[in-house]
Amino acid sequence: MARQAFRCSILHCLDDPGPQADNSAFEYFDDGVLLINDGYVERVGPAETLLADAGDGVEVVDHRGKLIVPGFIDCHVHYPQVEIIASYGEQLLDWLDRYAFPAEARFSDEAYAAEVAEFFVDELLKNGTTTAMVFATVHPQSVDALFDAAARRNVRLIAGKVLMDRNCPENLRDTAESGYQDSKALLLRWHGKGRLSYAITPRFAVTSSEDQLRSAGKLGREFPEAYVHTHLAENLDEVSRVARQFPWSKSYLDVYDQFGLVRERSVFAHCLHLDARDRQALAANSAAIAFCPSSNLFLGSGLFDLDGAAGAGIAVGVGSDVGGGTSLNTFRTLHDAYKMLQFDQQFLPALRGLYLATLGGARALSLDHCLGNFEAGKEADFVLLDDTSTSMTRLRAAHARDVAERFFALMMLGDDRAVAQTYVMGEAVS
Ligand code: GUN
Ligand code: ZN
Repeated sequence: MARQAFRCSILHCLDDPGPQADNSAFEYFDDGVLLINDGYVERVGPAETLLADAGDGVEVVDHRGKLIVPGFIDCHVHYPQVEIIASYGEQLLDWLDRYAFPAEARFSDEAYAAEVAEFFVDELLKNGTTTAMVFATVHPQSVDALFDAAARRNVRLIAGKVLMDRNCPENLRDTAESGYQDSKALLLRWHGKGRLSYAITPRFAVTSSEDQLRSAGKLGREFPEAYVHTHLAENLDEVSRVARQFPWSKSYLDVYDQFGLVRERSVFAHCLHLDARDRQALAANSAAIAFCPSSNLFLGSGLFDLDGAAGAGIAVGVGSDVGGGTSLNTFRTLHDAYKMLQFDQQFLPALRGLYLATLGGARALSLDHCLGNFEAGKEADFVLLDDTSTSMTRLRAAHARDVAERFFALMMLGDDRAVAQTYVMGEAVS
């Protein structure tokens, strides 16, 4: 592949800008160049100097007027739930029974799973999301279908078969033994293949027996390079139920901890109802959180304490949590995050929003060695943004005084129409 120089405005994070939007945590080039060599970032910098010393054999792609940022990272989403997105009227446990479980039952049909997986991955890319951590269903074929669709588009994806052996419909149950065997077979088939990684995926403590959580922990010890992906402390009825089902536990997190599921590369969605001791345990074990504001508001689950989590030293990324969340679009997720945090006098300036959706997500998924910003050598996943694609964003952009205002306006007003082009390893894919 030729070396390509993408010329336009370029913004990326070097670190967490925090609630006060620390100026040293990002880099911005008003007239910049992102130089890509064979799918990887070679350099980023001001156009004037970079083009002068880039050497020969560079194709310049002129996108002046637009803004490039790193590809968005969705740290928690359910692909089988795209078809029940925006279903009216329930909170978590009833919503699962009424909408999520019936939808997931359809994924016993591999052809159906393949059809939805294609739709889902295309929809991610259309929204500028180039990396995702995804729940499939209990059916192993639902994982094959998803990884197949991702591999054909060279998308970075982490996914796994749901483990659940109780408190759900009969036709969606596995057993501790079959769940272990099926997960192991999928892990061996897919983990490390191209850009794909496997996540051991117990749905949540409510739907797993102690035997199942024990075997999930065993698999995690056998394959420390694999991920663990589950839900934690999302809804108060769920938290009470976990306390009843595991009367010996000190907290909801303690249930997972006792089975060895709280470790590096463990990602816990939601984490709304935690205390300081839980946060300390997550940080001490290098586990991460997927903050899912759209879902938390839609299902009435509660408010996330971002400052508490970040202050404790926990890596936090954002998740759409579709179908509990109502959009796969990262601007919509950040929009809900901003409004949720306002309730609690916490702050989400534009650069912190960009961080959560890019480098923060990469850190949460232990992928910051290869993703999250435009450091030399990283994989060239990026998004070309056009804030003139609707009359409202065009008007607002014309009045933006700096790039933070420009990005913040997209956080509040943007959707897939602002994504002019998504690039995966330097190649345009949508
Ligand atoms: N907890 C257990 N399963 C689910 C799910 O499918 N969605 C959400 N939001 N929370 C869950
Ligand atoms: Zn979820």
